[in-house]
Amino acid sequence: MNYRHLGNAGIQVSELSLGSWVTFHLQTDLKASMDMMSAAYDAGVNFFDNAEAYALGKSEEIMGAALKRLGWRRGSYLVSTKLFWGLHDNPNEKNTLNRKYLLEGIDGSLRRLDMDYVDLLYCHRSDPSTPIEETVWAMHSIIERGKALYWGTSEWEAAEILEAIAIAERHHLHKPIVEQPVYNLLEQHRFGPEYEAVYKDHGYGSTTWSPLASGLLTGKYQKGIPADSRGAVQGYEWLQDGLQDAKRLAVVDALEPIAAAMGATLAQFSLAWCLQNPWVSSVITGASRVEQVHENMKALNFVAKFSDDVMTAIDEALGGLHQA
Ligand SMILES: NC(=O)c1ccc[n+]([C@@H]2O[C@H](COP(=O)([O-])OP(=O)(O)OC[C@H]3O[C@@H](n4cnc5c(N)ncnc54)[C@H](OP(=O)(O)O)[C@@H]3O)[C@@H](O)[C@H]2O)c1
Repeated sequence: MNYRHLGNAGIQVSELSLGSWVTFHLQTDLKASMDMMSAAYDAGVNFFDNAEAYALGKSEEIMGAALKRLGWRRGSYLVSTKLFWGLHDNPNEKNTLNRKYLLEGIDGSLRRLDMDYVDLLYCHRSDPSTPIEETVWAMHSIIERGKALYWGTSEWEAAEILEAIAIAERHHLHKPIVEQPVYNLLEQHRFGPEYEAVYKDHGYGSTTWSPLASGLLTGKYQKGIPADSRGAVQGYEWLQDGLQDAKRLAVVDALEPIAAAMGATLAQFSLAWCLQNPWVSSVITGASRVEQVHENMKALNFVAKFSDDVMTAIDEALGGLHQA
């Protein structure tokens, strides 16, 4: 495993990390989740990603229980959580980044994780109805109270991130240091030109999500939705359009021989492609079974193989796709 700094920050994250969205609680119980976390940790993963909203808090409970049983030294790994959607249908507690919600929300997450602090706390989305200044002060307070060590953003516009950084600098507050954007061969917009100032000039880190586009980039959806796949998980039917989109499936067909020529599975190829972008700090992988973790960790063997010729072939394969 290699480790990369989260942008300019002192902390380092493993190039591949493991998250729990959809999987923990809905697809994997405590034992299966522990097995996957162990396989990742044994491969050198030091970052485990979570969120309040995942399985409505159950994902945090499983990860917390798993870490207790696994008994790893706290200094040897990082845990994140994220706040925004909330767990209660109440104007002050859902779809918000107000100070009250954030300060109470982190306490709820820590209770479920059974931890004293998380390493990274993300604002899971931006909240246009709360002044960014209020959110920046609240995140600073959470860090000052020792409940999180660093904070970041997820799916924020570049201009919003720059505003948060400017506010923090003006008041000498803890700045956000990392964005959590979607990033895979089919969805590349979060590293577009408007983000250059964020990643390059401000040394922002990035922990990227859905590197396999929810599994599409493994090739498993080429002949329909397998019964044992994410596409068939109850409550996630909204993913099915994207998993059956003819243009995206055609791109996957076109990528397959490029991966094969490299000696990689499509999953390994797609994960390794994310890591050839130097602005990516860590690629958060997802898995519903331990065999997938074993396969995905081997993606590291292919990162150096993205020559100019390979990149040209990928561009051609992506050709007809309108990237969102
Ligand atoms: N900040 C955000 O808004 C946000 C949003 C989404 C995710 N995330 C984070 O990013 C993490 C990763 O996202 P993701 O789970 O969507 O990643 P992904 O890599 O796009 O999809 C992972 C899913 O693909 C399938 N898969 C993975 N490896 C495979 C393999 N080798 N062979 C066959 N199938 C394989 C598994 O699903 P099945 O086996 O069930 O088909 C697995 O659960 C999440 O856990 C979460 O921590 C963050």
